[in-house]
Formats: sequence, C-alpha cells, structure tokens
Amino acid sequence: MSRLDSFIRRLCAQRDCLVLGARLIADVPGPVLEFGLGNGRTYDHLRGLLPEREIFVFDRRIAAHPDCIPDPEHMLLGDLHDTLPRASERIHEPAALAHFDIGLVDAAANAALCAFVAGWAAPLMARGGVVASDQELAAPGWLALPLPGGVAEGRYFMYRVTGA
Ligand SMILES: C[S@@+](CC[C@H](N)C(=O)[O-])C[C@H]1O[C@@H](n2cnc3c(N)ncnc32)[C@H](O)[C@@H]1O
Repeated sequence: MSRLDSFIRRLCAQRDCLVLGARLIADVPGPVLEFGLGNGRTYDHLRGLLPEREIFVFDRRIAAHPDCIPDPEHMLLGDLHDTLPRASERIHEPAALAHFDIGLVDAAANAALCAFVAGWAAPLMARGGVVASDQELAAPGWLALPLPGGVAEGRYFMYRVTGA
C-alpha cells in the first residue's frame, strides 16, 4: 500500500471512530476531551458531531486553522505533562468521550507518553464513556471495543470505560 493510501485509510479510520464514539455516548452525559488540536480537523469534526457538548482541547501550541481554535476556557495550552495532571481544575464533570491523536514518531517516547496520558486521563472519564485513540492505550477498566466496519485492527483503537 502506498503511503498516500495508508494516510487516507488512517484519516477514514479516525473519522469513522469519532462517528462511532459520538453514537456510543448518546446516553452518557459529560464533555469531550480532545488530545491534539493540531490543524483542528478532528476538533472541527467532533464539534459538528456533538454540537451540544463542551469540548476541552489539549495541545502544547495553537497551529490550527483560524476557524478551528477553541475559546481560551476550553483550550488547555501547554505540554500534557503540565496540563493533564491539573486538568480537573478546569474540567469539573467526568468526560463522556476522549479522543487521542498525539502519536509520536519515536517509539520509546511514544510508549512513555501513552502510559502517562492514559494514567492521568482515566480519572477524568465517566463510567460508560468511550475513548478513541490513534495509539494503543491501557488503563484499568478500559475495555477494547470493536472497531467500525472497514477499519483494520491496529489502525485505530477504541475503549469503553467500565468501572473496573
Ligand atoms: C497529529 S497532531 C493532531 C492533529 C489533529 N487531531 C487534527 O485532526 O488536526 C498531534 C498534536 O499533538 C500535540 N502534542 C504531541 N505531544 C504533545 C505533548 N506532550 N503535549 C501537548 N501536545 C502534544 C502536537 O503539538 C500536535 O499538535
């Protein structure tokens, strides 16, 4: 598969997982957490899917399309190692959906970041909430969900947050 095809499939998987996640949290109240504003593409998609939800966005910088920049109240700006441990000061309700799109190229750094974010994000999540991620994550009580049809195993990851 060419790198172009791989990129297209990754974006399709991302979109399909966000759509499924939005559907799965229909009965779960709470805000959405978006990890990785980047260009703002997935933030924009999430706010279209879930217009009634608050969306809190984490990134170390704002480099998004001007139309896709959260208001300051909903933007947790800074390195996740600083912002995530203090996020409960800004986010007062358990989150129904979290989306992680912060994968790093370096495998060791990526593994460390995944362990860190899962550990700190877990207490922010509502029971019954859903996590979608470009990286495999592990936290107590996060059970792997089947991916949407057409999304290959390992291309994206989805979890249901149980109370375990
Ligand atoms: C792939 S981009 C996100 C793309 C975005 N979801 C979109 O659809 O446009 C990854 C983002 O994660 C952010 N990021 C990666 N590691 C981070 C860290 N430790 N703290 C804060 N932001 C981080 C980067 O700054 C980058 O903007």
